[in-house]
Amino acid sequence: MAPRLLLALAVACLAADCRAHFVNFTLPTLPYATTLFEPNIDNATMTIHYTKHTQTYATKLNDAILTTCLGQGLALTPLSQLVQKVGASVPCGAKLCKAIRNADCEKAVRNQGGGLFNHGLFFLHNLAPTGAQDYETHASRALRDAVKQAFGSYDTLKANFSTTAAGVFGSGWAWLVYNPATRKLSITTTPNQDNPMMGLFTPRSYAILGLDVWEHAYYIKYQNRRADYITAFLNGKIINWQGVSLLYAKAVNGQYPNLNVLDLQQGPWRVMS
Ligand SMILES: *[C@@H]1O[C@H](CO)[C@@H](O)[C@H](O)[C@H]1NC(C)=O
Ligand SMILES: *[C@@H]1O[C@H](CO)[C@@H](O)[C@H](O)[C@H]1NC(C)=O
Ligand SMILES: *[C@@H]1O[C@H](CO)[C@@H](O)[C@H](O)[C@H]1NC(C)=O
Repeated sequence: MAPRLLLALAVACLAADCRAHFVNFTLPTLPYATTLFEPNIDNATMTIHYTKHTQTYATKLNDAILTTCLGQGLALTPLSQLVQKVGASVPCGAKLCKAIRNADCEKAVRNQGGGLFNHGLFFLHNLAPTGAQDYETHASRALRDAVKQAFGSYDTLKANFSTTAAGVFGSGWAWLVYNPATRKLSITTTPNQDNPMMGLFTPRSYAILGLDVWEHAYYIKYQNRRADYITAFLNGKIINWQGVSLLYAKAVNGQYPNLNVLDLQQGPWRVMS
């Protein structure tokens, strides 16, 4: 084949940026009925938060991948890898370049990709119907040991998480994270839809339990009473401790960076109702 033809083909492929191979992010059906979180989270909030808010992050991310992200080489990038590229640099020649070169694409991946990842973690790995699980019997031994090491006790963790989540100014998330540098758990927050594993944060850390404190997560039932929503989350037995334990094991084993947060089939924490 003539070199010129080869070059033309390569350019055509870049321009299409795998448009032909493009796979949309889609939301799986929730593995539980949305009515099962009463009285902690009402059915209307559960439904609207997932089928409207979370769906919108997916739709807008898909739109971005077909528009401002074309030519960035991101079309086939798994969600967790996309999220980690936000704010990150990669070597290019002798210097460093932004991992996502187009600013509008990076903004979309940050806000919509972050939103999709964070909500996927929250709905699919962190929540279980009221009363289905509790810390003492469903959190793994390894996780409980790590909690003891970092916080002294689960009650101290809860007190810290509660204060920290209440203190998020405006919209954002409170997280229990595993920090690979210290090999310890800690509690942190991010604004908007940022995630602690984005390249914006040093060191990166991996969220194993998150609480959405955007008003869209609690306003229908709790209005301005964010503290009551936080208490219901921590004390209402709606945390999926099997899911959190699995995420902890993945983080410790270095598998978390490749986590397919929208895949429900890969763990023992599936809770059917
Ligand atoms: C749950 O909430 C949604 C959204 O408001 C509503 O359409 C649905 O009928 C509710 N389900 C029940 C069982 O109340
Ligand atoms: C992907 O999603 C976008 C909007 O989210 C939609 O317009 C498009 O048709 C979808 N493409 C495929 C291949 O499903
Ligand atoms: C919560 O724990 C973090 C470490 O995980 C610590 O830096 C912070 O001071 C604690 N905050 C509260 C309110 O206990």
